[in-house]
Amino acid sequence: MEQVAFVNHNSIEELRTILSQNAVKRVFLVSGKRSFTACRANVKLRWLREKYQVIKFSDFEVNPQLKDVARGVQLFKQNDSDCVIAVGGGSVIDMAKLINYFSANDLGFHNYTIADSSSVREGKLLIAIPTTSGSGSEATHFAVFYVGRVKHSAAHETILPDVAIIDPNLSSSQPPYISAASGLDALCQAIESYWSIHSDDESKTYSRRAIELVLPNLVQSVVAPNPAARLAMAEAAHFAGKAINITKTTAPHAISYPITAYFNVAHGHAVGLILPSMLEFNGLVTSADVSGSRGASYVRDTIREIVEMLGETDLVGARSSLQKLMKNAGLETRLSKLGIDSDEDIELIIENGFNPDRVRNNPRLLTEEAVRAMLNEIR
Ligand SMILES: [Fe+2]
Repeated sequence: MEQVAFVNHNSIEELRTILSQNAVKRVFLVSGKRSFTACRANVKLRWLREKYQVIKFSDFEVNPQLKDVARGVQLFKQNDSDCVIAVGGGSVIDMAKLINYFSANDLGFHNYTIADSSSVREGKLLIAIPTTSGSGSEATHFAVFYVGRVKHSAAHETILPDVAIIDPNLSSSQPPYISAASGLDALCQAIESYWSIHSDDESKTYSRRAIELVLPNLVQSVVAPNPAARLAMAEAAHFAGKAINITKTTAPHAISYPITAYFNVAHGHAVGLILPSMLEFNGLVTSADVSGSRGASYVRDTIREIVEMLGETDLVGARSSLQKLMKNAGLETRLSKLGIDSDEDIELIIENGFNPDRVRNNPRLLTEEAVRAMLNEIR
């Protein structure tokens, strides 16, 4: 299924046409608790309540718990909604995807990934409206949820939203740190997708566009945001989302999750801590430790292309230019400044940062010793 996407200032206005074209009557609106008002969606979508029967679901934790999904599914079914609209950040959009998916498919919440896709039914019309430029969740066919502290991912082609509305005006009120961290998430997703063992021509085209949009606009969008920079970052996030929709992410994302879960570092910031070292590590791949089927020289060429996109000529330069970009965007690059200081802290990250799927996507085999060395280097 192809997604229809609208990317522009005030594209939220497209929603009126989409709803009437699809003869929608009852809307299930998934949103964040505070972000919905903070981004002024409450004002911009006032007409929605006047024209449609709207059930709002915003009473869930930031990292969606499966029990919250189950409550959402129940409410959705009770009201027989014929459309799901998600307005919020990545986890709000993930929540909407999960509610739509589990409402159409009575899987008892155990069967997260369906091997036999022929038995999966399409959900209702799903419209994703991101309010932060970063996750790209509106462009992917997977969704993250938690059971307690354990992270799970549901993946199926029917999970991809039918419509994505990317309106940079919605992210205009976000604090600088959030802009920096989510912009960096987009950059890291694009770079990881580019080097992923699953990359193809299409995903690499999306990645390249995202990288080329982030590099000249990230700092501007943080320190002195203007409409052009915000639009560029919104587009970048969407393209990065389209890229990982094909490839998924790789090792920096895997290693970042415990940094977020245990040390409260924002997701994009946590990934950004790891990615510069991983770029250098992947660039030194040999035939003895290459992953995937394309060989070490293909991977080295791929990394060289990334180095060139960064405007650098070698791995060390690329690594420091990424770190400089982070600093200019106001993001700390040393672990010790973020409360990650002791050997025990480092071991906690290693212990919990080896999601087999994500690590396997990395173009160079990763050992615990290699990750330990990288973490100690940025301590
Ligand atoms: Fe991410």
